[in-house]
Amino acid sequence: MKGPVVIHKGLDNVYVKESTICFIDGEASKLFYRGYSIEDLAAQSTFEETAFLLIRGHLPTKQELVDFNRRILLNRPLEPGLMQLIRSFPLTSDPMDVLRTAVSALALYDPAPITDKIDGRVDKAIRILSKAPTIIAAFDRLRNRKEPIPPRSDLSLAADFLQMLTGEAPDRYDAHVMDVAMILHAEHEMNASTFSCTVTASTQADMYSIITSGIGTLRGPLHGGANEAALRTVMEVGDPSNAEDYVTRALSEGRRIMGFGHRIYKTWDPRYVILKKLGAELASQKGETKLFETAVAIEQSALKHLAGSSVFPNVDSYSGIVFHTLGIPVDLFTPVFAMSRIAGWTAHSIEYLESNRLIRPKALYVGPPSLPYTPIGARAG
Ligand code: CMC
Repeated sequence: MKGPVVIHKGLDNVYVKESTICFIDGEASKLFYRGYSIEDLAAQSTFEETAFLLIRGHLPTKQELVDFNRRILLNRPLEPGLMQLIRSFPLTSDPMDVLRTAVSALALYDPAPITDKIDGRVDKAIRILSKAPTIIAAFDRLRNRKEPIPPRSDLSLAADFLQMLTGEAPDRYDAHVMDVAMILHAEHEMNASTFSCTVTASTQADMYSIITSGIGTLRGPLHGGANEAALRTVMEVGDPSNAEDYVTRALSEGRRIMGFGHRIYKTWDPRYVILKKLGAELASQKGETKLFETAVAIEQSALKHLAGSSVFPNVDSYSGIVFHTLGIPVDLFTPVFAMSRIAGWTAHSIEYLESNRLIRPKALYVGPPSLPYTPIGARAG
């Protein structure tokens, strides 16, 4: 006889596969990509190298990295048809809608979008990874009634994104901060959007469909959208002296402090530690310290009120400040998160497909038993 049905709401603690991609110790504040600590990768790697590591499973040799970088460079420009499509979007479109739609449309400009070969899937993934920054920057230029700026072959993906956005190549420090921010957002185990990609991959759908579903899932305020919400909170609070008032009121009204709490981390999110340090350096370098100080005041107040609750700052408490200080508009934060996470989404989809099983959970039916059908004309009202 079958036992009682257990419903895993939110799929908490449900394992869907074995993986060698990412390890998080949420109690010890540890995060590893393919065995390498996030601290080492942030200090010594580049986004391109980290993307290779995630997708291919090992740190590249010099030649492998040269080849990988070259493929990313070659794929950065957008096909004229895709650029034309982006030009046709309403200027008021949400950039996440633009990214989702453009990534989906990339399949239309690929003569062979469907492949069941691993290398073929990696090719599609590199195509999407390379073009996502170009798509986001192009739309931002267009909505500001400026012409898109083409990618440059002498810049990293992170630096080129800032160049295509602002028209100026960033200085070395800004380029480094952007690169580290992309590394920190590249992967995070089986979160909602990665699961979404895995579900789509399990149907043997193409890479464009896989990444499009990830972008759609990342969009919500409880996932990728929290970075935007966290910065808007800091802006609304406006000054460190208002922080205590804001936090007390928000918590007493049952509202959540954005950039706090995590399903896995029950202590400091290690990405938060790195971003807070970069945020402090960036703020003092640019002489724009008020937002940073306000965020610190919110953090201190929230930590005091939430003491003993296992709710700590997550990656989003300072990512918004860092992106804002780099000159990235607020509504591009989640698209920037998405363009970085394409690396992790790809790695997980491909890993899952190596021993695929269609994902098909169940729902426990609690509705009425069989009802007699009443024709519309005979229904009350
Ligand atoms: N502010 C205040 N209280 C909180 C917060 C918060 N941000 N997050 C959780 N709590 C409290 C919550 O009210 C609950 O308290 P109680 O047990 O008294 O009802 C307790 O902590 C557990 O909350 P939960 O909702 O069961 O925990 P969860 O694992 O489902 O929460 C979360 C994860 C991310 C949805 C939640 O912490 C949250 O809504 N945070 C704000 C949004 C945010 O910053 N999201 C970014 C997540 S990190 C980026 C990513 O990986 O995508």
